[in-house]
Formats: sequence, structure tokens, C-alpha cells
Amino acid sequence: MIKRDVIGKSALALAIAAASIVAACGGGQGARPPTTAQQQGGAATPSVGARSVEASALAPGNVEVLLCDGKTKISVASGTPGTAIAGQLMAEWMRKNPSSNWEAEERERHTLQPAADNSGLIGLIDGHTYGKITAQDVALWKTETERVATAGSAVFHDADQLGSTVGVSCDMCHPHAANTHPETYPKFQAQLGRVALLRDMINWCIEHPVRGKALASDDPRMRAMEAYILAQRKGRTLEYGKH
Ligand code: HEC
Repeated sequence: MIKRDVIGKSALALAIAAASIVAACGGGQGARPPTTAQQQGGAATPSVGARSVEASALAPGNVEVLLCDGKTKISVASGTPGTAIAGQLMAEWMRKNPSSNWEAEERERHTLQPAADNSGLIGLIDGHTYGKITAQDVALWKTETERVATAGSAVFHDADQLGSTVGVSCDMCHPHAANTHPETYPKFQAQLGRVALLRDMINWCIEHPVRGKALASDDPRMRAMEAYILAQRKGRTLEYGKH
């Protein structure tokens, strides 16, 4: 019940009002305010996964390129679209190299919770053909687990990756995944008229406030967001069915 007060109608109205401004970036007609992520980071870097550069035709022969920080704007002759291409390539590159510096930045910006520390298991026999658990194993488990959660954070904060038609991302109403209560699932959800899993509520929010298309259960974005939302609730007691 408390959660409804926190992210009730006023937050909804706010996000929808914001959406009409934010959508300008997608239209390539003007500056959009920095995303929440960028405000928190204070950095002018474009949000990862978003199209970082938008090009729109001006006078014939000229193309205006706007970085989605809403500030950086340049005009290039249409014969030299290198800047636009470079920006898009960089966004692509960052998506394919989640272990780059960007990963640390994403973690810093969104205060990602660390995965469990299994160093107490080093040296033990794990009972499988792999033999003893090494420090390398433990480091690998942690890095790989956190990488999935970090990828989820990137999707959660990115209207484009979410397929939003109104420029809205999850963090506008759930900063740092607040009020997502993954530990209460499965539970009966009145708006669905049935028992929901966490992914059903993620899809409900994608279809309604975010106004995108529901993701398949095995969509990598869905898997990553589940990982991120659960990671953010580290330490909570599981209480399925709780309202
Ligand atoms: C415009 C605001 C808004 C946006 C954007 C939004 N949500 Fe929600 N979300 C809500 C509201 C309001 C509820 C409460 C719905 C209810 O319980 O009736 C909710 C509920 C949820 C819940 C269930 C919470 C619980 O207590 O059981 C999850 C999980 C969730 N949202 C995830 C997401 C994800 C993931 C995204 C992005 C894809 C997102 N939301 C985007 C407003 C928003």
C-alpha cells in the first residue's frame, strides 16, 4: 500500500509530462533534457544504448547532429556524416563491450549492489569434475553475475532499448529500481486479474507507462532487467504474495 503513495498518480503525470519533452530528441528537432541517469552522473556522456547521436536534415546539404545530452550540437555538410556515424558506432561498441570503462560508470551512477562474495569457498572441493574452487572461479562468478545486472541497469535507464514510444524509461518512476518489490513475487495483481511473476509486472509497465511492446520472457533485455531489479533488493527477505 505504501508503494502506491510513493509512485502514485503524481509520479505518473510527471513522467508523462516529461515524456513529451524527452521525445524531442527522437524527433531530432531540438534538445532534450539530460536523462535522470545523466543528471545523477553529472556527466555529459550519452546514455548507453540510446541512439547517442541524432541527425536531422536542415537546409539541403546540411545536417545537424545533436548529442542526447541536449547541449552538444554540430552542423555538418551532408557529404560528411562521419560524426553521426562515429557516435552511433560508439554506442554500438559500448553495447558490445560491457566490460569497458562504461561498466564502471554505469555501476557508479546507479549504485549497483555487489553480488555475493564467495571467497570463503576458495580451496574447497566443489564435488564436480572441475576440482578445487579457485580465486579465479570466485572472481569469474562475481564479475559475470554483476555484468548481467549491469546490463539490466542500462536497459532499465534507456527508453530506446525499452522500445518506448514516448521516451520514458523505468527510472523516471523507479529510481534505482525503488518500489519494484521483486521479493513479493509471485503475487496476485488486480490489474492483471491473476497471479503475476516479476516479469509480468515489468511487461505491464513496459506496455502502460512506458508505452512499448511487451518483451518475451527470454528476451535478453527482460533477463537482464530481472537480474538488475533483484540485485537492487539484495538482502531483502523473500515474501511472495505480500502486498
Ligand atoms: C510512469 C511511471 C512508471 C514507469 C515509467 C514505470 N513504472 Fe513500474 N510501476 C508504476 C506504478 C504506478 C506501479 C504500481 C502498480 C500497481 O501496483 O498497481 C508500478 C509497479 C511496478 C512493479 C511492481 C511493483 C510491486 O510493488 O509489486 C514493477 C516490478 C515495475 N513497476 C517495474 C517497472 C519497470 C521494469 C519499468 C520500466 C520498463 C517501469 N516499472 C516503469 C509506475 C511506473
